[in-house]
Amino acid sequence: MPCRPQGSPLNHLKQHDVLTLSARFIYLNYGLAFWMGSRFLVDGSVGLSQILTIQLAIMIGAFALGNVAPNIQAVTSAVAAANKIYAVIDRVSPLDPASTEGKKLDAVQGNVELRNIKHIYPSRPEVVVMEDVNLLIPAGKSTALVGASGSGKSTIVGLVERFYDPVGGSVYIDGHDVKGLNLCWLRRQISLVSQEPVLFATSIYDNIKHGLIGTTQEQESEKAVRELVERAAKMANVSTANGIKSSLRHTLYAKTLDEMMF
Ligand SMILES: Nc1ncnc2c1ncn2[C@@H]1O[C@H](COP(=O)(O)OP(=O)(O)O)[C@@H](O)[C@H]1O
Ligand SMILES: [Mg+2]
Repeated sequence: MPCRPQGSPLNHLKQHDVLTLSARFIYLNYGLAFWMGSRFLVDGSVGLSQILTIQLAIMIGAFALGNVAPNIQAVTSAVAAANKIYAVIDRVSPLDPASTEGKKLDAVQGNVELRNIKHIYPSRPEVVVMEDVNLLIPAGKSTALVGASGSGKSTIVGLVERFYDPVGGSVYIDGHDVKGLNLCWLRRQISLVSQEPVLFATSIYDNIKHGLIGTTQEQESEKAVRELVERAAKMANVSTANGIKSSLRHTLYAKTLDEMMF
């Protein structure tokens, strides 16, 4: 990458101008305080101690105000950035995860099908990410999607979880269009370990236990929860089933990730 100069002459000029302006402001304040103070002292309306108090208050206040000036640029940039952030936060998503509408299926087998999917991300309307994609993922089979970075693998997961609605075509789960299913229910049927999973700063045991939040097993006894967590650990090959010694297994459950790494 070409090396950029540290700051253009224009930037220096601006900084210099701001500093000069703040210094000018401070000295004008001193001048005003001395001039007006001497007039009050001569006509006897104010005593010397009061003038000194006012003088000091003006000096300290003017200094503090003068120091604010160079930071005004940072404040205006922060206001502009906050504006953009709040616009994103305040945007009401057309897909409401708290909605009670939509079907909840009694049982899910897990057949996933994409039919004639065309997808364009709302933030990049000029790029067609998917055009007429058909895909059938049968239940109970391990299916691998292989493709170059940016080819749309994560987009497929996002469409199945209904983070976005495709522009054309539909996604079906067991033959039901996901648009007709209850959103919250749909997302509860899917477990996703993404490329960069977020682990909380607690033990592995507690991290696995977080998976129970919002499920019917959340309120079960400590023993039942422990069994569930251990079963999940076994399925993910982080347990004795995979030949890990019980002492290490204990460490894995009790210690936080940071403690294990350092
Ligand atoms: N939230 C998004 N907004 C706009 N474009 C996106 C978004 N997510 C992914 N893309 C674009 O969609 C294309 C497919 O991305 P993605 O599904 O993440 O690919 P993969 O997972 O195969 O690496 C890429 O060109 C990517 O830049
Ligand atoms: Mg991806």
